[in-house]
Amino acid sequence: MNVLVTGGAGYIGSHAVRHLRKAGARVAVVDNLGQGHRASLPPDVPFFEVDLRQTDRIREILAAERIDCVMHFAALAAVAESVAEPLLYYSNNVSGTVSLLDAMKSVGVRRIVFSSTCAVIGIPSVLPIVETSPREPINPYGRSKLMVEHVLRDWFEADPEFSAVALRYFNVAGCSADGSIGEDHDPETHLIPILLQVALGQRPQVTLFGRDYPTTDGTCIRDYVHVDDLCQAHVLALKAIQPGMAVYNVGIGRGYSVQEVLAAARVVTGHPIPAQFGPRRPGDPPALFADSSKIRSELSWEPEFTKLEPIIETAWRWFRAHPSGYAD
Ligand code: UFG
Repeated sequence: MNVLVTGGAGYIGSHAVRHLRKAGARVAVVDNLGQGHRASLPPDVPFFEVDLRQTDRIREILAAERIDCVMHFAALAAVAESVAEPLLYYSNNVSGTVSLLDAMKSVGVRRIVFSSTCAVIGIPSVLPIVETSPREPINPYGRSKLMVEHVLRDWFEADPEFSAVALRYFNVAGCSADGSIGEDHDPETHLIPILLQVALGQRPQVTLFGRDYPTTDGTCIRDYVHVDDLCQAHVLALKAIQPGMAVYNVGIGRGYSVQEVLAAARVVTGHPIPAQFGPRRPGDPPALFADSSKIRSELSWEPEFTKLEPIIETAWRWFRAHPSGYAD
């Protein structure tokens, strides 16, 4: 199977490239290198530095690489940035995807595994979140991903051969267990990398955004899923893909508060990681965690990492070995 990985030089995409190759797929990568790193890819992977909005280039690549299925990771994914720069998010995430689908349609590629997010739900009325929970996103990032889910469903309604799987990620964390590839965003906004940057002395302290949420300790609760487990979910989705549109939550099904993540990072690093409380960050829902029984029963997905500390350990291994990231 020939798979085009969009955003394949990014944090999750680069891990997925390895999993797909291990599973026997032939992989090609497109990435505009807005956040991605060429160095995160094996040198022999066909790589194209292209933006998804360059429809003609994408069409040429799909045809030349004889692609059977697209794994679509490329997107902007920082909630607070999406609140400040909504057009950037609609252009990259919605227009970029429509351009990709246009190119796919014109060369007859009708299979896609799409990186969706639990941010499509907004503030859930019931926890844990199930796939059929009402979707009322509270930030432009979540809305951009929900729009793409609608677009995929509409394509299927118009073309019964079209096959899509949308994986709704919860909070993806950790790095490749062998420490060879990892997470390198600029600027970094995610909690676990920031805690590790404090432990490395690269930041003086961490600010915890909000202490008055309606949660056990007043800080936000999230479901942290290891990047390798998430990529395994992609491999299973690829094997199972069939005409229609399937949606799966990918989370471990347990929520940790920001203060619990801080405590775990202190244990893993042995560093005091100084912290202060600050105001809430715009666009943050109080608590998000998954009911992942659908992907477990239908695709036999079983995460290896079910606790926070081992997840942070894999990230710590990468950050300690690569204090300047990929340095590219
Ligand atoms: N947080 C802090 N301080 C920081 C950074 C984060 O307190 O310096 C808090 C956030 O407010 C949030 C939690 O830590 O409560 C996790 O924040 P992240 O930025 O690590 O992750 P998000 O939950 O905002 O976002 C992630 C992905 C999105 C996805 C979302 C769904 O980046 O793509 O999970 O919850 F949509």
